[in-house]
Amino acid sequence: MILVTGATGGVGRAVCRRLAERGEHLLLTARDEDRLRALVQEVRTLGGGADELPCDLRDQEAVTRFSRTVLREHGAPAAVISLAGHSIRRSLEESFGRPHDLVRLTGVNMLGPATLLLAMLEAMSVAGGGRIVAVTSASARIPTPGWAAYGASKAGLDAWLRAVRPQSARRGVRIAIVELPLVATAMAAPTYGSAPRGALCPDRAAQRILHALDARRSLLSPPWARAGAVLSQAAPALAASAAGRAGELARRFAARGTVSRGGASASRPVRDKGPRP
Ligand SMILES: NC(=O)c1ccc[n+]([C@@H]2O[C@H](COP(=O)([O-])OP(=O)(O)OC[C@H]3O[C@@H](n4cnc5c(N)ncnc54)[C@H](OP(=O)(O)O)[C@@H]3O)[C@@H](O)[C@H]2O)c1
Repeated sequence: MILVTGATGGVGRAVCRRLAERGEHLLLTARDEDRLRALVQEVRTLGGGADELPCDLRDQEAVTRFSRTVLREHGAPAAVISLAGHSIRRSLEESFGRPHDLVRLTGVNMLGPATLLLAMLEAMSVAGGGRIVAVTSASARIPTPGWAAYGASKAGLDAWLRAVRPQSARRGVRIAIVELPLVATAMAAPTYGSAPRGALCPDRAAQRILHALDARRSLLSPPWARAGAVLSQAAPALAASAAGRAGELARRFAARGTVSRGGASASRPVRDKGPRP
């Protein structure tokens, strides 16, 4: 069984469709039960098996209950694909008086996923091994004005995964981190429009995630994100200001790509241009 969090999102649905075509059995989670049930049907139609179990990753007690139910009813997963997430773009001025943004994003992007992965990792290692693929963001390693709370929450998960990875590998559970570029999903729409120019289509993003699942890669990241991460370490102030300017340019560039031919098509947006979310 493969546990997929954020299964009903743009990237999640594409991942689930690809896994279904391989005949995998999936356990799907997110909050919206109707969308989960619809996805279960879609996975079954495509030849996979699926069950759904909703969970709000911002609720620590719910995550603990969820983990126990998964392990009791389904046993240790062979793999976990951690996709659930939320992004907020706000300037410093817009963030004044909004400390709840930090709580909200830390919950869904860091504390919830890490709590769930910790429980799954223990069970998988006892069961003989497994695979974790966690999707973070280039913002985790390239601090960028406007994306402070999002980047910080993804950076927390990234640091936690990197720190547990060696010991996890010794227990038979391999961890891969995937940093996605801009993908044309609902998450990107408020900032970049519904069909951002230069964005990956969700199926191409899913392809990368499945590559991370299959190959022995510990990090899948666009070349510009790796270069940006090095610059962020070497010259943090310069890198953050450059990232802010590049982000604004990318936003204008992407917004010009909004198309009317059925929105973001599976074949159109492919390049690794847009850096966030
Ligand atoms: N799209 C991009 O450009 C981009 C770029 C880099 C990285 N990423 C990362 O890729 C992952 C997938 O993004 P996406 O574009 O597919 O986003 P999306 O379409 O907005 O989907 C987000 C998914 O997370 C679930 N979710 C949100 N809040 C949750 C909560 N509190 N508890 C449990 N599940 C929750 C949503 O379902 P419910 O609302 O029903 O809970 C949905 O299934 C995210 O981690 C994102 O940060 C995306």
